[in-house]
Amino acid sequence: MTVIKINRLAVPEGQQAQLEERFAARKHSVDQAPGFEGFELLRPVAGEDRYFVITRWRDDESFRAWAAQREPRDPSSTVSRSEGVLEFEVVELD
Ligand code: HEM
Repeated sequence: MTVIKINRLAVPEGQQAQLEERFAARKHSVDQAPGFEGFELLRPVAGEDRYFVITRWRDDESFRAWAAQREPRDPSSTVSRSEGVLEFEVVELD
């Protein structure tokens, strides 16, 4: 069952462009993860000031396997900070 995982990233004022450049530079880095179906980086406009990374996976196991082997980054080298992941299942309407 397709699942959606949304990472919420807090980005200090003035560092948004840098965050977007980092995503642009690494946009294909997750392509090969088994079960990964795509992502979008959402820039906040109203009602929210964090960036959302919306990711789509074939199933929950695929996401968990990728997350478990993901390289942790040194927080002193990142501009963003994760404020938690929201998890959804896609409802089949057929
Ligand atoms: C729901 C899935 C995801 C989770 C749980 C996740 C986790 C994180 C976390 C915890 C951070 C904060 C900084 C850090 O510790 O590195 C971050 C930032 C980042 N992530 Fe992800 N991520 C997800 C999806 C993705 C995807 C699909 C990409 C594709 C390239 C990506 C690329 C990045 C980049 C470029 C940053 C910015 C690092 C910075 O602030 O300089 N992430 N992510």
